[in-house]
Amino acid sequence: MPSRVEPGRVTRRDLLGAAGLWTAGLAILGSLVGLMRLPIQRVLPEASDRFKLGSPEEFPPGSSKVLQDQQVLVMSTQEGIAVLSMVCTHLGCVVSYSGDGFTCPCHGSRFGPLGDVSAGPAPRALKWLEISLAPNGKLVADKGREVEPGSFFQARGKA
Ligand code: FES
Repeated sequence: MPSRVEPGRVTRRDLLGAAGLWTAGLAILGSLVGLMRLPIQRVLPEASDRFKLGSPEEFPPGSSKVLQDQQVLVMSTQEGIAVLSMVCTHLGCVVSYSGDGFTCPCHGSRFGPLGDVSAGPAPRALKWLEISLAPNGKLVADKGREVEPGSFFQARGKA
């Protein structure tokens, strides 16, 4: 009967044992690769509705500025600063601003200087967006958060 330690001779038991070890090793390696992939983010976060306006000093009382890329009007009065959405409340066209109000090019709705409806078919006033002050002293507006029309943000004295 041949001995198991005889050099150059591999028994079926040795072969099965080695195959079992290789299988276990590959399973552990596969698990480690899977664990290394876990922290990688697979879903991109949604784009934020918040955007920077700038410092409060950029908006002195009596000024207004259209931010075309954000489709908003930043208006500053003695009461504070407001950000009005320029998206028409009828079917979502972008309105134009003329200094004394807004006009929608799609179906002719007109809005007053504070976004109130002066001529339909728009069913409601333009949205006033929430403004906050970031820790760095810059104003930030949020398209996802609406405030009551006439709610001016008091930035002066907060910065
Ligand atoms: S989308 Fe503005 S009036 Fe229709």
